[in-house]
Amino acid sequence: MYSAVLCVAAAERRFPDGFKFGIATSSYQIEGGWNASDKGVSIWDHFVHTKPEAIGDRSNGDVACDSYHKWREDIQLLEDLNVDFYRFSISWPRVLPTGFPNYISEDGARYYSDLIDGLLEKGIEPVVTMYHWDLPQPLQDLGGWTNPLISEWFADYARVIYDLYGDRVKIWVTINEATAVCDIGYDDLHAPGLESEGRGSYLCTKHVLLAHAKAYRLYEAEYKLKYQGQVSLTNQMMWLEPETVEDTELTELAIALSIDRYCYPIFSLAGGWPPALERYMAQKSAQEGEPRSRLPPFTQEEIQLVRGSYDYLGLNHYTTHTARPAASGETIGTYLIDGFKELDVKLGTRPEWSSTASGWLKVYPEGFRALLSYIKQQYGDTSIYIMENGFPDAGTDLDDQPRVDYYTSYLEQVLLAMEEDGVNVVGYSAWSLMDSFEWNDGYQVRLGLHHVDFTSPARTRTARRSAKYYAAVARTKDIDAEYQFDKIADE
Ligand SMILES: *[C@@H]1O[C@H](CO)[C@@H](O)[C@H](O)[C@H]1NC(C)=O
Repeated sequence: MYSAVLCVAAAERRFPDGFKFGIATSSYQIEGGWNASDKGVSIWDHFVHTKPEAIGDRSNGDVACDSYHKWREDIQLLEDLNVDFYRFSISWPRVLPTGFPNYISEDGARYYSDLIDGLLEKGIEPVVTMYHWDLPQPLQDLGGWTNPLISEWFADYARVIYDLYGDRVKIWVTINEATAVCDIGYDDLHAPGLESEGRGSYLCTKHVLLAHAKAYRLYEAEYKLKYQGQVSLTNQMMWLEPETVEDTELTELAIALSIDRYCYPIFSLAGGWPPALERYMAQKSAQEGEPRSRLPPFTQEEIQLVRGSYDYLGLNHYTTHTARPAASGETIGTYLIDGFKELDVKLGTRPEWSSTASGWLKVYPEGFRALLSYIKQQYGDTSIYIMENGFPDAGTDLDDQPRVDYYTSYLEQVLLAMEEDGVNVVGYSAWSLMDSFEWNDGYQVRLGLHHVDFTSPARTRTARRSAKYYAAVARTKDIDAEYQFDKIADE
């Protein structure tokens, strides 16, 4: 039996009373039931079944945590965590098997309705993501996010979801991490596994932004008065630092590409693409003999549609990288993880940042505060929800002190951003409730506050030390909260 070291802080490190703590998951990563009832096939179902070698351990999400059947148990875990909200996502093809609203799955619709009711009964607020990467395969067959019609299809899906759950769900996230959808999905790593960086990826970016905006405007026009909810999206924001001072200007452009491309059109006063990126892309495309910029322009009407389509700003943050120009002949690998081919930028880390089970994720909490300050300076004082933040390990030890340390140090930087820099953060969601299918890493990398035994048909969930810690933080809002960790007998 272990008991936690009691930490007596010099000054109280406490979030304000109204601050909300939550925890997140996504449908494909936890649900399983990939072919339950009349569910349609998603691009992730298709990807893992046709290209198993893309996943480190050749696993898939067919069963995952089996939350399709075990959601009642999950609600119990959430209750024990004392969280204010649970952020989960809806699988588009589970509700609309064809991808279109001509046919709504009764079982699919009921699954999420029961989950929402179960949460509300326990006083846990549902925060619902409409799209966390599991596009219906029939839509991919029509070009997916590169087909301009997809913004209409997404709004049609959003209407179904608002009609089904709008009476009970007050915080909506239209799209999770568009950069993963567009840049990583079109750099051969994520489904749909296409290689079209710099072309398909930018068509996707534009259409994701329009899809989000149409879903936002639909809510604004037809649901907001009745339901009083909030709609936005959540973007992945890895912070970037210049490797040396000479790399400052290049790093600013890399931030425009990786962060502002997905934010500026929505959250800036002017709207449209970030001006520096738009200029760079116009010039570069012309030099390459393109008839127009590879970054597809917005019409004036589209700029107006997208600009201001938010009720809060959502962001996911895990780590920081350094940026420098690639050396001549140096290869640049995966987007965001290794570099940006578009800018000839190579990403790296500093030796003093400690490592995790994911090569790309180093621990550098100060980067979080710098990011939050940048967002305030760039986009003003809108309410910010941190929708994801978490720490990967190999998952073998329930006593995950490094994860507890990660949360303590990252939360401290959030507090400093709020107290010292005046950043308006109103909520924080850890990633993740439990170990789950971590995309290309399969089950080799774990981010759960709960361990999941993927070898057992029961998919047994067991609280880690970090779950005990987070439950205490969520209850007290104090990052130095005292907690008791009783280690279960060694496995
Ligand atoms: C569902 O998928 C599983 C594999 O995950 C397979 O064994 C089973 O036969 C499938 N069921 C149906 C109804 O297709």
